[in-house]
Amino acid sequence: MNTHRRPPDTFAPVSKPEPAFQLRSPAKINVFLEVHGKRDDGFHELETVMLRTNLYDVLRFEATTCDALRVRLADYSLPALTATFPLDDSNLILRAARALRERTQTRHGAVITVNKQIPAEAGLAGGSSNAATTLLGLNRLWGLNLTKQTLHETAASLGSDINFFVEECQSALCTGRGEQVAPIQTSGCFHFVAAQPGSGNSTPEVFRQLEFADVTDRRRIQSTIQALQRGSTAHLQVASFNRLTQAAQQLNPEIAELMHKMKQMTDRAVFMSGSGSTCYIMARNQREAGRLKARLQHLNCRWLGALNVR
Ligand code: C5P
Repeated sequence: MNTHRRPPDTFAPVSKPEPAFQLRSPAKINVFLEVHGKRDDGFHELETVMLRTNLYDVLRFEATTCDALRVRLADYSLPALTATFPLDDSNLILRAARALRERTQTRHGAVITVNKQIPAEAGLAGGSSNAATTLLGLNRLWGLNLTKQTLHETAASLGSDINFFVEECQSALCTGRGEQVAPIQTSGCFHFVAAQPGSGNSTPEVFRQLEFADVTDRRRIQSTIQALQRGSTAHLQVASFNRLTQAAQQLNPEIAELMHKMKQMTDRAVFMSGSGSTCYIMARNQREAGRLKARLQHLNCRWLGALNVR
């Protein structure tokens, strides 16, 4: 079992001019997700609340004198994190870099080194966050001066969760495919203890599994937003919801098992983030999160961590 470790700040401090610098690439957690139907383009219309957490990868950007684009991992000794990190054309960092070059008709090169801490196929948007950080980082490294609007357009062409990170806000209501981002002003700090079962989830498969015939009462998002604005974990616990939970459990029975065990061991309501497979409980403060995490230490899971959102 791997527990969340902060990536060491091993890279050189930022100096000007900037041939190299590093940026944090945070994980998100969904505290509300409702699906409002399938669209003509095959995507699903969503209403979701995403929170930016204190779990992050670190991306280092380095300019090169040639036009080569290279992505590499800082540490290949963590198989649980590196085995799921593609180095081919499906890599979202490479796709983001190429999309930027195409949009600006430039041939800049870069080496991007990733210190991976966010588990994959976890519903924490590690890949999408890396793509957004690449757009922000290369805009700076290459001196492109692209506006936020242009970065948002590029982000939306690459995936549905990337715009949330391009917005660089703490918390947002995301609609459409997920790419329409409206920041929410939250109060206080929210604490979570999250665990990922032995296997991850494929997002397209979870959406395919979803059966709309079963949905008779769509959940309302308003009380989740109010709980965040008030800074109330108690209210957030009552209001939180994820429409994808059942579909994810049907595909990956380890999720139901993990949620059941987390409930048994903590007596807390258990939720799933995004399309899974990470499940989480909420805590009132950091000390309680530490206590709850300690109780879950012997869960048989791939990853366990205490997260917070400020
Ligand atoms: O856009 P993204 O690459 O994150 O989505 C991965 C897959 O998840 C999509 O190809 C689609 O099958 C599914 N999806 C969806 N509706 C959304 C977001 C994602 O059906 N709003």
